[in-house]
Amino acid sequence: MHPADATLEDMTEQNYMFNTAETGEHQRLLAHAQVWDPVTFRRLKSTGLGEGWRCLEVGAGSGTVTEWLAEQVGHTGHVVATDLETKWIRGLGSPNVDVVEHDIRTDQIGESVYDLITLRLVMTHLPDKLAVLGKLGRALVPGGWLLVEDYDMRVLPVFEPPDATCSKVAGASAEAIRAGGGDPYLGAKLPGLLSAAGLTGVETEAVAFPRRMPAIRSWRTQVAEMRDRLVGAGLVSADEVDLVLARFDDEYCELVVYGPLLVSARGRRPA
Ligand SMILES: C[S@@+](CC[C@H](N)C(=O)[O-])C[C@H]1O[C@@H](n2cnc3c(N)ncnc32)[C@H](O)[C@@H]1O
Repeated sequence: MHPADATLEDMTEQNYMFNTAETGEHQRLLAHAQVWDPVTFRRLKSTGLGEGWRCLEVGAGSGTVTEWLAEQVGHTGHVVATDLETKWIRGLGSPNVDVVEHDIRTDQIGESVYDLITLRLVMTHLPDKLAVLGKLGRALVPGGWLLVEDYDMRVLPVFEPPDATCSKVAGASAEAIRAGGGDPYLGAKLPGLLSAAGLTGVETEAVAFPRRMPAIRSWRTQVAEMRDRLVGAGLVSADEVDLVLARFDDEYCELVVYGPLLVSARGRRPA
């Protein structure tokens, strides 16, 4: 599974409109998780996370990070997992997990409660990012950790070897997100946002998984789904999108695409 599998469609909405009727949504969330969990787990583990920690995961989605956190903190620790829609995390079954249906934009999460707070691919949906980060920072105990992960799509138009049409269509995807009120480059803004929210020791890393186009079937599906929107917005022609689709369909195509970067930014509440 490639990171781009779970990208473009979600990023076109500034405020996350969760369609519970959409049968593919759970699969989409699991696809996110399959790609990014190893990155997230490594970043969380290196904070020193362990037995007895009190953790909050905002926008837990399918709950794979929540379950992993519950194992790490053991029976002396505690994990709160929240989301606008909790149907996939409600039944997790770990005794040290509490599932809360909430909206991080408007609901309270307490002050000086958590040793660690994490959210992945959630911040992009929130209009007032600094206000939310301030709230998250205050919910940490002094010295507590905040990990925020979001995409930076600036490498989306990068193909090797270079291909002008593929780059144009990929760039148009990012532009469509921006035109829809989203920020395709949010990842790169996270260090500044975390610092502005008062966190200290902010450090960041970015991860991508470049792969050959024919190997990324579900990204082809997403380009096909976006075809009419991109063409309708006048960003690319139908022929250009079809040429990109043909590249995905050519098993001998050697073009490598990066997909989005996942920027993993973390900092601490001042002790
Ligand atoms: C792209 S999914 C990511 C899920 C999970 N964090 C992951 O990376 O696998 C975004 C999640 O954020 C949740 N979400 C969006 N806006 C939210 C809000 N205002 N408050 C709480 N959760 C929100 C959505 O319901 C969804 O589960």
